[in-house]
Amino acid sequence: MIVELKHPLVSHHLAALRDKATPPHIFREQVRRLSLLLAYEATAKLPLRPVDIETPMEKMECMQLACRLGLVPILRAGLGMSGAVHDLIPQAEVWHLGFYRDEATHQPVEYYQKFSSSPPPIAFVLDPMLATGGSACEGVAMVKEWGVQTISLLCIIAAPEGMAKVQATHPDVDIFTCAVDEHLNENAYIVPGLGDAGDRIFNTL
Ligand code: PRP
Ligand code: URA
Repeated sequence: MIVELKHPLVSHHLAALRDKATPPHIFREQVRRLSLLLAYEATAKLPLRPVDIETPMEKMECMQLACRLGLVPILRAGLGMSGAVHDLIPQAEVWHLGFYRDEATHQPVEYYQKFSSSPPPIAFVLDPMLATGGSACEGVAMVKEWGVQTISLLCIIAAPEGMAKVQATHPDVDIFTCAVDEHLNENAYIVPGLGDAGDRIFNTL
């Protein structure tokens, strides 16, 4: 399933995110805001369990999240998303994967993986940009190999090429995105996109 968020706040915050005049500190804030909106949508079907609560007035049955959750940001740019999603789900576990794209081949190169021996049943892979889909497909494959049963991919901007690759390779993975852009250019950058998300987050342009 692909979910493209259609919401005035998403459109509004995407405008500043895409603007090349937006400085890194505002860019980071926009990534956080859009990550919260993505996470709100992507967590809509999380399982709940009843808990007994006592309000100042009386006892009642409430609902709480029923199972462990993992957030898996793909370094570096995914780090821009994980703090916001973690604020929303403070009990989530955060596990990191590191990939960079080879500039010539555009293939992902893995440089970091940190998983425990006990995977959570549900995980959200976080990466603002889904371009060729190489990094996302590799990341999702590693999360599956770890043993996670239900995986969603949260990206702020997706290219049709990347979505098609993820859907073909991992048809069981839901993709949540704020925007589906037009195409990739000859350097495998998303057009119109926003440029290099990692560099804009970390001020390393
Ligand atoms: C970017 C982005 C994704 C990847 C997307 O990372 O954050 O991880 O490229 O491209 P793909 O879909 O073609 O794989 P980058 O390699 O620039 O590393 P960074 O996050 O460290 O800047
Ligand atoms: N990575 C980015 O940061 N931007 C793109 O457009 C493609 C890959």
